[in-house]
Amino acid sequence: MNIVSVVGARPQFIKAASVSRILRQSHTERLVHTGQHYDYGMSARFFEELDIPQPDVNLGIGSGPHGWQTGQMLAAIERVLMEQPPDWMLVYGDTNSTLAGALAAAKLHIPIAHVEAGLRSFNREMPEEINRVLTDHLCVRLFCPTPEAERNLHNEGVIDGVSVVGDVMVDSALYYGAQSERCSHLLTDLHLAPKSYLLATLHRPRNTDDAARLQTILDAFARLREPIIFPVHPRTAAALDRAGLALPDNVVRLEPVGYLDMLALEKNARLILTDSGGIQKEAYVFSVPCITLREETEWVETVAAGWNTLVGADPQAIVEAARYTAPPPTHPNFYGDGRAAEKIVQELSL
Ligand code: UD1
Ligand code: UDP
Repeated sequence: MNIVSVVGARPQFIKAASVSRILRQSHTERLVHTGQHYDYGMSARFFEELDIPQPDVNLGIGSGPHGWQTGQMLAAIERVLMEQPPDWMLVYGDTNSTLAGALAAAKLHIPIAHVEAGLRSFNREMPEEINRVLTDHLCVRLFCPTPEAERNLHNEGVIDGVSVVGDVMVDSALYYGAQSERCSHLLTDLHLAPKSYLLATLHRPRNTDDAARLQTILDAFARLREPIIFPVHPRTAAALDRAGLALPDNVVRLEPVGYLDMLALEKNARLILTDSGGIQKEAYVFSVPCITLREETEWVETVAAGWNTLVGADPQAIVEAARYTAPPPTHPNFYGDGRAAEKIVQELSL
């Protein structure tokens, strides 16, 4: 089978790393990078570190407003597909690159498979929610990470082609986790003892693009007093600059880190504060308590199990949640055994 996979943003490289490795054992894949993320530390480093095949095509679209960015990707992906129509289009997650890939393929009657289908925040102000809903409704095969995601699809009348395969991010976290233990020296370089620090990330427009809300979150970080390691996403770096905000003294600012270093930081953190989807799950997989700086999450199982607390940007809620010491009594396996990619490739081959 000939497959075109479209990726463009950091978490998609991490997901594709696990799927491409298995897919290429028995099929031909052309990897299309939209260029949505382009800094070395947001893109090329992941291809090198995780041994992801170099993209066959890099569309080099770059940053811009949603309509412009998605439209440019759509036109460029369409050209790629028309030159050499594949048997399948494979898309990941919920970024503008995902929607552009799905829409380009749908218009050319190329069947689409979606990895990480069915997730919902039920918040249409998130650009990702629009991308997910539209992508899912264009797909022939929908690979859900959880039964909850499958239920969401059923509730929208999407039933054919849906299966629960587990989460490919778990595949990557387990596979590269072992490598991270051998290769990452970041904790030593930063003089960090295990469980002696908190780890934070922020990049949702709701948190970054509203300077008052961003300031509130930083004030809450200051109140936590413990060292907070903060690899700063470029969107957040731009927002901090724009608003002229300084980080509190207990916050250690880093450039975005590589995946192997990130896994090491996550595993050894006492607690993680984040608005990232992927990092909420990685926290869970590594049994690290998580505080989610959002009002809702797609990963509802982590909240129900008591490992993840939704606090929005409420400083008091952040401080109270961070006092947390005792882990919840149970840690069910919600996200699979690290073999989601195998199941996806098997099902695609049927
Ligand atoms: C995108 C995804 C989001 C995902 C995130 C992962 C959409 C709508 N959003 O958000 O779902 O969680 O990626 O990280 O697709 N920038 C750089 N260098 C880069 C990339 C971005 O400087 O390599 C800056 C630019 O100023 C850009 C801003 O970051 O305008 C935002 O980038 P963009 O890709 O539009 O959205 P993200 O916030 O990264
Ligand atoms: N990540 C990383 N370096 C960083 C921050 C995040 O390697 O400095 C990884 C993280 O471990 C996870 C993924 O990037 O696997 C999450 O991406 P992000 O938070 O950008 O997007 P989301 O998951 O929210 O879509």
